[in-house]
Amino acid sequence: MICQVVDAAKEALVTHGAGLSSVRFICGTQDIHKDLEKKIAAFHGREDAILFPSCFDANAGIFETLLTAEDAVISDELNHASIIDGIRLCKAQKYKYKHRDIADLTAQLEASKNARMRMIVTDGVFSMDGNVAPLKEICDLAEKYNALVFIDECHATGFFGKTGRGTEEFLNVVGRVDIINSTLGKAMGGASGGYTTGPQAVIDLLRQRARPYLFSNTLAPAVVGASSKAFDILQRDTSLCQTVASNTTHFRERMTKAGFTILGDKHHPICPVWLGDARLASEFADAMLKKGIYVIGFSFPVVPKGKARIRVQISASHTREQLDRAVDAFIEVGRSLKVIA
Ligand SMILES: Cc1ncc(COP(=O)(O)O)c(C=O)c1O
Repeated sequence: MICQVVDAAKEALVTHGAGLSSVRFICGTQDIHKDLEKKIAAFHGREDAILFPSCFDANAGIFETLLTAEDAVISDELNHASIIDGIRLCKAQKYKYKHRDIADLTAQLEASKNARMRMIVTDGVFSMDGNVAPLKEICDLAEKYNALVFIDECHATGFFGKTGRGTEEFLNVVGRVDIINSTLGKAMGGASGGYTTGPQAVIDLLRQRARPYLFSNTLAPAVVGASSKAFDILQRDTSLCQTVASNTTHFRERMTKAGFTILGDKHHPICPVWLGDARLASEFADAMLKKGIYVIGFSFPVVPKGKARIRVQISASHTREQLDRAVDAFIEVGRSLKVIA
């Protein structure tokens, strides 16, 4: 699998060059860029897609392009930094709702009633906790209040939901979200790149106006080749998503049984192992490395003070033996540091 992605990257490098020394609209668009955009739109069942140098850039470009001072953006308080920065760049009226709190979102929709257009903005899955946005309720509210829904699917595209279509597939709300931004830098090739997919009119406007698209170099051919192959593999082999899901269940169940608290949605492969204390998280990670397991402690300012954890990501390429070895190491270190009995 990794081999196929690397081979595709090599092939694109040979056939299309190392890079194009240009932004998209000058001479930075090749057949493979257009093909990948088509593939992404088809994968998500949307009208079109537009590539960006990264999802950070996709988030930097979208709000300023679509929203004016007459509009309102209503954002989950724990949205990713790139969404926060993207919103800062736009002139829309800004509203925040409490994390995944539908009652507060309703209050903010009421408060923003006079705006010309409203956009509800949320991560599909929140990366620090591995928890999922209440997308069905959000879409219901959006319909009621005539608002648009935007989701960032960096922690869902390619592995979450039965066929990897992400949070909307996982929660059975396929097609109800208006705009999706996501990354090619995680499950879909793992190099770099991001995209927006949605209605044709939105994508057309982004091509004309989104600053990171207009003013930053196009994606390198090797990166496009790798990501394009990742979409092909995923569409051919949906067992990959089932493997991630069953690996996740296995890891979460064994860890919970051993006495650890694992945060987040029980189906999501981001498995934050709760520790609380920052020093403990760092000592824990160091001890794991000595046992040959590479994990990272997350503490302030990445997560709030007193909420340190070790964030584990499960993948389809982990074998049961590897997962068990990791859990065994967690148990040994957890006992020696008195995290578990
Ligand atoms: C939710 C979310 N949005 C956006 C990004 C930025 O993605 P990229 O690395 O493609 O810029 C990330 C990266 O970690 C992310 O987690």
